[in-house]
Amino acid sequence: MQFFIDTADPAEIKKYWDMGLIDGVTTNPSLASQVGRPFKELVKEIFGIVNGPISLEVLSTDFEGIMREAKSLSLLNANVVVKVPLIPEGLKAVKALSSEGIKTNVTLVFSTSQALLAAKAGATYVSPFLGRLDDIGQDSSLLLEEIVTVMANYDFPTKVLAASIRSSRQVALAALLGADVATIPPAILEKLAQHPLTDKGLEKFLKDYKEAGLEPLV
Ligand code: G3P
Repeated sequence: MQFFIDTADPAEIKKYWDMGLIDGVTTNPSLASQVGRPFKELVKEIFGIVNGPISLEVLSTDFEGIMREAKSLSLLNANVVVKVPLIPEGLKAVKALSSEGIKTNVTLVFSTSQALLAAKAGATYVSPFLGRLDDIGQDSSLLLEEIVTVMANYDFPTKVLAASIRSSRQVALAALLGADVATIPPAILEKLAQHPLTDKGLEKFLKDYKEAGLEPLV
């Protein structure tokens, strides 16, 4: 399973890339707006940090506009994956882009039928938004399970990218259900390694050794 980091902040990206925890990056226009610096500048920095898939989203919603943006984005760097919204014009563009060898990440996916369309269009990644579904009271794990099953049923090469992750548990569920990738916000990446019993256990191991007056082995 691959981990992408879901942020446009180069400092966060560098932190987790240097730890060896992430394989790529996903951004979106909202994430770009949160850093407080020109997005062009951020993207340049990200290219210098990460050697793995970097999703950059188009802003156009019509076929010609999406195609124009996608082609320009893909020329910025060999690692660019063009993020395209799951709308009819977007699907048409994904089909054309995939025949030109341009990698795509179909975003804002909330149903199995949408994911199936993205796969048929030749998407490289399909991104179901788990947290946003849970936010409105739907069970996102059912959606993820269905999408993973559909991709396997027909041997679609499209990778399932679990997005809109809100908790460590959701990352574990994505892994259990067979998502190829989870894109994880920095705050959740930080929490993945944490468990209070790990901290408590380590504290006790070190205390017991010290209190017994034992010398370190090395
Ligand atoms: O990158 C897309 C997705 O992960 C956004 O998540 O938290 O805005 O629902 P969120």
